[in-house]
Amino acid sequence: MKDELQEIIDQAQSIIPLMVIDSLEQALPMAQALKDGGLTVFEVTLRTACALDAIKLLKKNMPECSIGAGTVINTDQFQQVAWAGGDFIVSPGMNDDMINMAQDMAIPFIPGVATPSDVMTAVNAGFEILKFFPAEQYGGATALKALAGPFREITFCPSGGININNAPDYLALPNVTCVSGSWIFPKDAVARNDWGTITELAREASKLNLSQQ
Ligand code: 3PG
Repeated sequence: MKDELQEIIDQAQSIIPLMVIDSLEQALPMAQALKDGGLTVFEVTLRTACALDAIKLLKKNMPECSIGAGTVINTDQFQQVAWAGGDFIVSPGMNDDMINMAQDMAIPFIPGVATPSDVMTAVNAGFEILKFFPAEQYGGATALKALAGPFREITFCPSGGININNAPDYLALPNVTCVSGSWIFPKDAVARNDWGTITELAREASKLNLSQQ
């Protein structure tokens, strides 16, 4: 399971944009703008009513992209994402039911952690790539640097308050494998269907990993 997840992370080239899709008609242009900017791994948050339909639509029309679901907080949603064909599942946290379901189903899962005890729970369940959320509020890059001490084998995908300016601080850490966030979709640009702006922000983000080499 980790290998499949690792392939998706490799495809993401350090950036997983978070898509908050309010209207289904915007799903494809939003995703196309990301792709035009060089990003091909997307996380559609289940915070909006059309999110599952959006995942189905993107899966059908953009087979070359990896389409995951974010903000998955219970097993019902976990199951719905699997039925919708989602490529991976991200949660802000985890619970026993979700851990059991992830272990039973062939879909990569990134559980969320914020504290050392959370990390221990996730590691105990066999997960080695974890979401650190909410990253900025829980100590940011400095906290992740400290977690590298006790948890040497674990890599993190931080999310929450990350943007083009602070992303390099995270990506410079050896235990950060990618960052995720919604900064690529400013609400006003999305409201006026300004996909050119989104493409530019995606392009800027897609270059972040190059600055780490
Ligand atoms: C998430 O669900 O991963 C975060 O809420 C994203 O945080 P952001 O909107 O601050 O990027």
